[in-house]
Amino acid sequence: MKPKEQHVTVSHPGYSDEFFSEEGVIDDASTTSEMGAELDTAHNTTLSANLEAVRMLGLKLPTDPRWVNVAEKSIEEILTDHAFCEQKAATMGITLIVKFSDHVKLVDEVTPLVAEEWGHFRKVLKELKKRGMALGRQRKDEYVVALHNQMRKGGSREQTMMEYLLVSAMVEARSCERFRLLSLYCNDEYLRKFYYEFMVSEAGHYRMFIDLAKHYLPEDQVKQRWEEMLLVEAEIMANLELRGDRVH
Ligand SMILES: [Fe+2]
Ligand SMILES: [Fe+2]
Repeated sequence: MKPKEQHVTVSHPGYSDEFFSEEGVIDDASTTSEMGAELDTAHNTTLSANLEAVRMLGLKLPTDPRWVNVAEKSIEEILTDHAFCEQKAATMGITLIVKFSDHVKLVDEVTPLVAEEWGHFRKVLKELKKRGMALGRQRKDEYVVALHNQMRKGGSREQTMMEYLLVSAMVEARSCERFRLLSLYCNDEYLRKFYYEFMVSEAGHYRMFIDLAKHYLPEDQVKQRWEEMLLVEAEIMANLELRGDRVH
């Protein structure tokens, strides 16, 4: 039996189920930088701004900003967990390239993403070292495992690709939401800037994965599946303990 890990949690459920976005997929043709700018506009500390930022990402359950107060008490654990999130993003990118290597646009766009995600890993590792902290071992990522478990199997190759792209988009969207909260509410000014940059970058990745799915599959199909996945993601989140030592 694995000993129970010592960790801090927020006493509050951490989510509000009162909020539902009307539209899960952003339809306009705004670019990655515009997406960053939109989040930037919403980069203030009002509750309505938080909800607006989540709406832009399409997520159904906003995280309680008080999560940050708990998270920053275990910053070494958050940074370690974050580093492994970046590693998983890079690994997932490589998996996509290998699995769908005959899809030129996908390979062209995911290849630089892998380098960027690995750059993120290095950045977080550097931050840990700067603080005299160690990377340590990775923890089981229950959130990502749950998202992978709900992927549909047995469809066409294109449909399987859509499952991978939308799960990737979902992880980016939720990471972006959490990084945004860190960029707003962390007491450490340096970390606020640190996480602001991650927020903008992951917003762009979210966008890229959605656009790739729409490039290869009919838009209606992508939108329908994305809406279904958003509901499942909200359910996964609602059932996961909101921990101060985890990014998700
Ligand atoms: Fe990243
Ligand atoms: Fe990313």
